[in-house]
Amino acid sequence: MPPNIARFASGRRRCERPPDAYRNVIDLHCHHLPGIDDGAPDMETALALLEASAADGITEAVLTPHVYPGRWDNTLSSLRPVFAAFKQAAEAAAIPVTLHLGGEVHLLPEALHLCDEGDLPLIGLWQDLRVVLLEFPDGQIPVGALKAVAYLRQRGIVPMIAHPERNKDVMRDPLRLKPFVDAGCLIQVTAASIAGRFGRRALQTSIALLERDWITAVATDAHNLKHRPPMLSDARDALVRLAGEIKAADLTEINPGIIVAGRNDPAFPAV
Ligand SMILES: [Fe+2]
Repeated sequence: MPPNIARFASGRRRCERPPDAYRNVIDLHCHHLPGIDDGAPDMETALALLEASAADGITEAVLTPHVYPGRWDNTLSSLRPVFAAFKQAAEAAAIPVTLHLGGEVHLLPEALHLCDEGDLPLIGLWQDLRVVLLEFPDGQIPVGALKAVAYLRQRGIVPMIAHPERNKDVMRDPLRLKPFVDAGCLIQVTAASIAGRFGRRALQTSIALLERDWITAVATDAHNLKHRPPMLSDARDALVRLAGEIKAADLTEINPGIIVAGRNDPAFPAV
């Protein structure tokens, strides 16, 4: 165990596995929906991805295709029929994963304005705020990103920042994320990063965020079976080693569970 993590772990409650741990592993970020972004190209591949999710122990998934105006022109209303068809096919194939529709929203004015039209895909609710999975462009933190966060917060939406550990600015200096955490943003780290499958720098940055207790959830960001599979189990094992059973359950089950459960709240727009 690296010394920095030993220090972190020593401050945590080291205890037995929580009684309900690993019963409901929830993937908040994946690109299974067929034919609408750089994830699954067709229904057959999409179902194979979902089978792999189930085989890895994932019981519930929020499908988060790119919402990237000018590149992938998806909106909540355009995604609904694609989601309905995939859900029906998954049920027909008896794949035991509960499905929800969300999106991974690129930080662009045209995308954020979808919230004013009620057409922004959301992933759930956190402390009575609607949660949008937000991706920074170009692997950097753009000028004006904090203003965009304020724009969303004013509308009762809190961003969950997708995979900041793969962002070049955050890799250089994890403290670049602090203003966003202070502004209430949630943080989603990619399973492959924490498991070491995305290289040393992504792992080190993930650990730096874990040490600061900034991570809300770990998710697969799965795109395909070969290079970016829907695998959370190795990340969960890494989290157990790095921070203990409780934290591993918090990031793969408890926090995602709270967010997804909020979808049943009347404040959450109908999907
Ligand atoms: Fe993604």
